[in-house]
Amino acid sequence: NKEVISLKEVKSFQTRSEEFFPINWYKEMLHHNPVYFNEETNTWHVFKYEDVKEVLSNYEFFSSEGSRTTIPVGAKNKEGSIPDAVNVTMVDPPNHRKRRSLLSAAFTPRSLKNWEPRIERIAAELVEDIEGNSTVDIVQALAAPLPSMVITELFGVPIEDQSKFKHWVDILFQPFDKENQEEMELKKQAAAKEYYEYLYPIVVEKRSNPSEDIISDLINAEVEGQKFTDDEIVRTTMAILGAGVETTSHALANTFYSLLYDDPSLYEELRNDVELVPKTVEEMLRYRFQSSKRDRTVKKDNSLLGHELKEGDVVVAWMSAANMDGDMFDDPFSLNIHRSNNKKHLTFGKGPHFCLGAPLARLELTTALRTFLQKFSRIEPVESFDLEKSLTTSAPGQSLTQLPIKVYK
Ligand code: HEM
Repeated sequence: NKEVISLKEVKSFQTRSEEFFPINWYKEMLHHNPVYFNEETNTWHVFKYEDVKEVLSNYEFFSSEGSRTTIPVGAKNKEGSIPDAVNVTMVDPPNHRKRRSLLSAAFTPRSLKNWEPRIERIAAELVEDIEGNSTVDIVQALAAPLPSMVITELFGVPIEDQSKFKHWVDILFQPFDKENQEEMELKKQAAAKEYYEYLYPIVVEKRSNPSEDIISDLINAEVEGQKFTDDEIVRTTMAILGAGVETTSHALANTFYSLLYDDPSLYEELRNDVELVPKTVEEMLRYRFQSSKRDRTVKKDNSLLGHELKEGDVVVAWMSAANMDGDMFDDPFSLNIHRSNNKKHLTFGKGPHFCLGAPLARLELTTALRTFLQKFSRIEPVESFDLEKSLTTSAPGQSLTQLPIKVYK
């Protein structure tokens, strides 16, 4: 098991709100400290677009296989750990290629086409339940449930179990916290065990009765004569939950936050032209997805970042900071859905590990936003909303626990 590096020791934000949108820190680092060595944690940090891209994609020098990491996932018991054969995130090419091909069987363009109406139906149901001319908590009504409902639907498990899924995800992927590390680990192990015991019989059943879903696709997947075992499939789905639920909820909640507080004129513009939704989603991923970051371990001594890096050194690539690099994006600190290159953001990573679920995440985000826009003519913030009290520590950094919105039909 890897040693976990606490990012709190690298940058300790004074408030949750500051961490929710750390652009002052990014500005400072981009301008004065673009390649920074932090003594306390013995780690390097890069912020510029080109450096982040290099660290994420040049796997001959920057490996995903190190013994230290900033991203703890799952639990340490048998049920909670990802077996080697399916662990794509912590392995470099060439081994990565085969594992990723196996997993890709569940994320083909054909599957995506098949999923689209199912995602539309889920979004429509959730939006339908929001009353017109009322105040709604959009986190509870849409951003939190949508991704876990979508994934339960796509796994092909009973939809009434989606709240269980959400419960397991919330526990399993809680971020590392030095203070109550042991207690959290026990909770995670219990959740992993419950999840495992719930899903295992479902996988066994699907092996004899396959259907149009991710679990069946994983059962059928075969690369170079290799197939997944039932045990591997259960743990693969756990990894997919970890990668795809909280992230997408976070992106969706932050999009609504941005529509309310970054540019209140944008909602009307989108109402008048829903074709702008995909561009809007990209710009939100660039500007409002805080904070995306990944670590790599130096595999060979090099000076690719302009400093002497030694084998074994850990480098953290701050994608959300790179998304604000003025050498890549004009006027980077303003939200502009019309910028020509907003899809160049690094929120989904870069190189061989580029997010396998990016097309699904994009589909969920555009569908949710479009469906919402069709029903409501206008939205307004609620005056009493207190951002600082509405945030919680999450894998990305700080996520909204609630976001009240006044909605008008
Ligand atoms: C990998 C971000 C949604 C599945 C990644 C990586 C990032 C990322 C940054 C690269 C990790 C690295 O370089 O080490 C996001 C964001 C999402 C999102 C911001 C939502 C807004 C999803 C969804 C799924 C998913 C919905 C699937 C249901 C994966 C998988 C990988 C991955 C399997 C590992 C790929 C590999 O290592 O080869 N994601 N993700 N993600 N993501 Fe996503």
